[in-house]
Amino acid sequence: ETVYLRDYTAFGWQAQDVHLTFRLAPHATRVVARIHFAPNPDAPAQDFFLHGEELKLIRAAIDGTEVTPELTDKGLTCPVPSGPFLWECEVEIDPASNTALEGLYMSNGMYCTQCEAEGFRKITYYPDRPDVMSVFTVRIEGDEPVKLSNGNPGKSGDGFAEWHDPWPKPAYLFALVAGDLVNHPGSFTTASGKKVELNIWVRPGDEGKCAFGMEALKTSMKWDEEVYGREYDLDIFNIVAVDDFNMGAMENKGLNVFNSSCVLASPETSTDANFERIEAIIAHEYFHNWTGNRITCRDWFQLCLKEGLTVYRDSQFTSDMRSSPVKRISDVIDLRGRQFPEDQGPLSHPVRPESFQEINNFYTATVYEKGAEVIGMLRRLVGPEAYSKALDLYFDRHDGDAATIEDWLKVFEDATGRDLTQFKRWYSQAGTPRVTVSEDWQDGTFTLTFSQMTPPTPGQDDKQPQVLPMAVGLLSPNGDEVVPTQVLEITEAEQSFTFEGLGARPVPSINREFSTPIVLERDSSAEEKAFLLAHDTDPFNRWEANRALARDCALDMILTGAGPNVAWLDGLEAVLRDDTLDPAYRALMLAGPGASELAQVLHERGHTPDPEAIYDMGETLTQFMAERWVDLLPKLLAETRVTDAYRPDAEQSGKRALGAAALSLTTRLDGGAAAQAQYDAADNMTLQLTALMQLVKSGNGEAALQAFYDQWQHDRLVIDKWFGLQIMGLPPGQAVERAQALTQHPDFTMTNPNRFRATLGAVGGYHAAFHRKDGAGYALLADKLIALDDINPQTTARMCSLFQTWKRYDADRQALIRAQMERIMAKDKLSRDTSEMVGRMLS
Ligand code: ARG
Ligand code: ZN
Repeated sequence: ETVYLRDYTAFGWQAQDVHLTFRLAPHATRVVARIHFAPNPDAPAQDFFLHGEELKLIRAAIDGTEVTPELTDKGLTCPVPSGPFLWECEVEIDPASNTALEGLYMSNGMYCTQCEAEGFRKITYYPDRPDVMSVFTVRIEGDEPVKLSNGNPGKSGDGFAEWHDPWPKPAYLFALVAGDLVNHPGSFTTASGKKVELNIWVRPGDEGKCAFGMEALKTSMKWDEEVYGREYDLDIFNIVAVDDFNMGAMENKGLNVFNSSCVLASPETSTDANFERIEAIIAHEYFHNWTGNRITCRDWFQLCLKEGLTVYRDSQFTSDMRSSPVKRISDVIDLRGRQFPEDQGPLSHPVRPESFQEINNFYTATVYEKGAEVIGMLRRLVGPEAYSKALDLYFDRHDGDAATIEDWLKVFEDATGRDLTQFKRWYSQAGTPRVTVSEDWQDGTFTLTFSQMTPPTPGQDDKQPQVLPMAVGLLSPNGDEVVPTQVLEITEAEQSFTFEGLGARPVPSINREFSTPIVLERDSSAEEKAFLLAHDTDPFNRWEANRALARDCALDMILTGAGPNVAWLDGLEAVLRDDTLDPAYRALMLAGPGASELAQVLHERGHTPDPEAIYDMGETLTQFMAERWVDLLPKLLAETRVTDAYRPDAEQSGKRALGAAALSLTTRLDGGAAAQAQYDAADNMTLQLTALMQLVKSGNGEAALQAFYDQWQHDRLVIDKWFGLQIMGLPPGQAVERAQALTQHPDFTMTNPNRFRATLGAVGGYHAAFHRKDGAGYALLADKLIALDDINPQTTARMCSLFQTWKRYDADRQALIRAQMERIMAKDKLSRDTSEMVGRMLS
């Protein structure tokens, strides 16, 4: 069942070309494959095995002679000639019954595919592995008005359409879409003057929600030319919006398929956050054309080769389009919220895992987000110019390859002359390093001593020191920057760095821009943190100082019953009142650490988190802030009011974000009056939704919830928000019951992952509700996951990770969670996906 990296062997044949014919029918689609295979001289001798699952074999032939292959539930084997041969095969599949949303399936009457990672084997028998690359020609037969596949369009006519993709690709990049679709067209002229046709294909009725995505696509294409020198390489680029989709989107060559929530946008129906996310995902999938498609992965252990790099590239893009510090802070919040718990719990795995049962379970925050952090560290170590040089070499040397992390690191070694042997540990060693810092001051010399230690993770007891490119600056006591940011290259378990010729003992600003993804354990005084909050020149560390003060205040309140730290609140108030600062940045300052971050920190410091105590503290602190800032709030509300026509750009959305934070505090004082006024006047979804949230929180939201439902009933993506919002806005004592009731709502459905996540994900992400003492949150989640497993194993398994932090909590809660996980494990015919995830959490 388990696959190991060390067992890699090449496939015994090359697929020289692939011809596929699809005769579409909802319950009986026929797929005819004609493939020329030739022996691969570099591969060891082996049986001819093709993957294939849930296929009905109609006929198979080799060089025109019918054969009877040996079939298992994993694929087929067959004796073949010793030289090249033509493989022909016809299978029947049932897309209309495919609720797993992997392979060819139907969504609202539309045919679509998701083949990454191993879905192609549900379409036809094939060596479904990324190192088998071939040129695909596809013919689609059916009455659907629009029929799309990869590459450039070929002949089309009554009831058929042909496509040819000249770029060799692995099967996971194959895509087919057919249905009653309309397009929002556009075009882009590449740097070398080639005109590319662009389309966003949607269901009739959604045409009005494509303009933003189209602009984001053109901006991404331009950015990749300017920053990475990468041009698009086909005559046409198609994007399709699909309502039922397991993930965000998929980078199929020339035919990106998107979860409709990640591409459709309009001011009336989408929030600022939706717009920003759509822009980033469009960019991400587009950037995959080079980092993923032109250069792909040798095997699925190398997933971070394309995902870490592409996430890194899309974060650079967002930094360039919007505010760089705001993007960095948001990414770190996300890293701490999703990746740190993974890295520090039972699901911990290296950025490049060494074994798996189900690869879909490794599309994780570690592979994606930590994978991107590793690239950020590499760039910081070698510098931006050497990074560009190495990337040019990577594209040059590996275009057309299915590559490995070794190949990736080698281009950096060759381009810079650096030895990256130790750096490579970031790919193989799991867990978050903990770094402590001590300092010494003598005769004008300041010394920083760093010690690093990575705690054991499952299967890895002994950890070696990592390379830590630690960005540090020094401030003088009056707030001047006496030593500007420099990168200290830490390689030892303990290592000191000295700074000479200083007039007075400086205040260090450590791990600026969060240059290394570590837990920094440094006992600094509240005064020093307040000093950095007031004076640090690094916007990230200024925010970080505030975050640390907020965390300390919360922990004091929880553990000692102390009141809020007013010295900190005064320092924060000074920042909030500084209208030279970007409102988006101030909004991030005002948003305190969430409940699960506090639970994590309590756990790190040796305490057992009590979810009720964390929740109560949050309520007390928020009320206190509202009362203390009774004069500040109207000022913030006025300052953040937008009078121009709606634009989802950084400037306007920053204002609305700070306005939302101010509204939330105001609601504590006025019982929802300001929120009601905002709700009634709102002409965009951002303002409407933030107001609705506050009305629900104020306890006066039921009428508005009904009005909102009546207004938006026809719009699936807005109704997803409606499902989630009311769960998140109600007190923990009501949220689980509300979620339970919503699963009985006529608009609830188990087969649409967006709706399922909107509802059950809202419970799982609501710390105090999910971890309710009576276990109601755990039980509801387990009930629904058990029901979903037969329908959609992939989404079930992903959502099981909500249980991954279970060992942080008290014995009673641990017992409740364990019982639910065991109940899931005991389910009849549990999927491999879910069984691997729950098994790892239990062991
Ligand atoms: N490659 C896609 C992306 O990151 C993710 C698709 C993953 N799908 C899956 N079923 N595992 O853009
Ligand atoms: Zn990706």
